[in-house]
Amino acid sequence: MRIVTDPFVTENPLAKDIDLAQIEADIILVTHGHGDHIGNLVELANQTGALVVCNYEIYLWLEKQGYTNCRPMNHGGVFTSKGIQYKVVIAAHSSSFPDGSYAGNSVGFVIKGSNDCIYFAGDTGLTLDMKLIGDEFELTGAVLPIGDNFTMGAKDAAIAATFCGAKKAIGMHYDTFDIIKINHDDAHNAFRDKGVELLLPQVGEKLDF
Ligand code: NI
Repeated sequence: MRIVTDPFVTENPLAKDIDLAQIEADIILVTHGHGDHIGNLVELANQTGALVVCNYEIYLWLEKQGYTNCRPMNHGGVFTSKGIQYKVVIAAHSSSFPDGSYAGNSVGFVIKGSNDCIYFAGDTGLTLDMKLIGDEFELTGAVLPIGDNFTMGAKDAAIAATFCGAKKAIGMHYDTFDIIKINHDDAHNAFRDKGVELLLPQVGEKLDF
């Protein structure tokens, strides 16, 4: 199963070596409507025919553009497809489309397969709700924003990892723009302090997680 989250490639200064046309997807998960999350959503959906899992407002927006292979969801919802379970969880963030119009709730996803369970947090600040994820799931790891400013920074993200019970985390939403550039050593130290391994892969790098 090829799962793509929040496709943002062609306008992403860090993804200049990634060719959108080469990206394959069976499912595209969308966390919210900000441009750095849906930048290439319509293109990639049309290119792959993937099922787009997103909130209701983004579903309506896609439908208006002629793309109907969507699963509209909202906080608390669970959807199972081909043996993989997707649960929509709360993200403490805003959500609007690039033109400023309302784009529904921001969400995160817990993705549970037969062997692995990953929490993909989306854009979010630290929230106690993350403890509910730890109560319900045995996570293989979490993908957490660490760039600060628009989301939590590494220190809060390390606490988020302890809340949801992740022993391993992949950092995201950092270094893309000046305003979210971070010190990598500080980020590693913040996670180490909490006993969590932080991975910061290069763009395009493959990981066994
Ligand atoms: Ni955002």
